[in-house]
Amino acid sequence: MSSRALAKDQPASFAFNAEMMAQAKRIIAKYPAGRQASAVIPLLDLAQRQEGWVTRPAVEEIAKILDMAPMRVLEVATFYTMFNLAPVGKTHVQICTSVSCWLRGSNDVIRACKEKLGIGMGQATPDGLFSVGELECAGACVNAPVVQVGDDYYEDLDLAGAGKLLDALKRGEKPAVGSVTGRDGSAPAGAPITLTEKPVPPPKQDFAAAKVAFEKAKADAAAKAAAPKA
Ligand code: FES
Repeated sequence: MSSRALAKDQPASFAFNAEMMAQAKRIIAKYPAGRQASAVIPLLDLAQRQEGWVTRPAVEEIAKILDMAPMRVLEVATFYTMFNLAPVGKTHVQICTSVSCWLRGSNDVIRACKEKLGIGMGQATPDGLFSVGELECAGACVNAPVVQVGDDYYEDLDLAGAGKLLDALKRGEKPAVGSVTGRDGSAPAGAPITLTEKPVPPPKQDFAAAKVAFEKAKADAAAKAAAPKA
């Protein structure tokens, strides 16, 4: 993993916009009084969604909101690689380079970025449209190698598949997420050889009807208990 530190050049200030502040308040309210520090990760995420990256003023503002030492917020921001500590391109292509993806060809994905975008790991295109970053295990090893763009995963990539994906992103398209080879989720590549039938979902529970029946049974039992004995 590359070193994780805030960028040298920082904006002068940070404030959540009204929409993000409303979301932040909703998140903080989920935790008991005195435990608002538990909201630090979602608030860092909101700051990044607003600004594109986590700035020093954002760290300080979140610390103030959550009544935490700024260092505690910074520790979280620098630990988790999903937080960008420097500005990124409009489209930030994160390549998983952990062991499963590396064994399955993440170096070819890096090569595709060099060929299609002209940039390598940790770099951005001069127009600011694309940047390439490293991702620690994305938790989708079974479909390695994996690339994350925004909130989406693109899986089962190779040199050609990654090239096609980047071409589509350059055209401003939003390719279908998941496996680029078209396999169903993490089903075996090619046709499944076991469990070949689609599972039948269990019948839907009618909770409203069950509640009505329960209340009726309760009322009947109470009426029976209150009835004079013969
Ligand atoms: S190693 Fe890449 S998703 Fe796990």
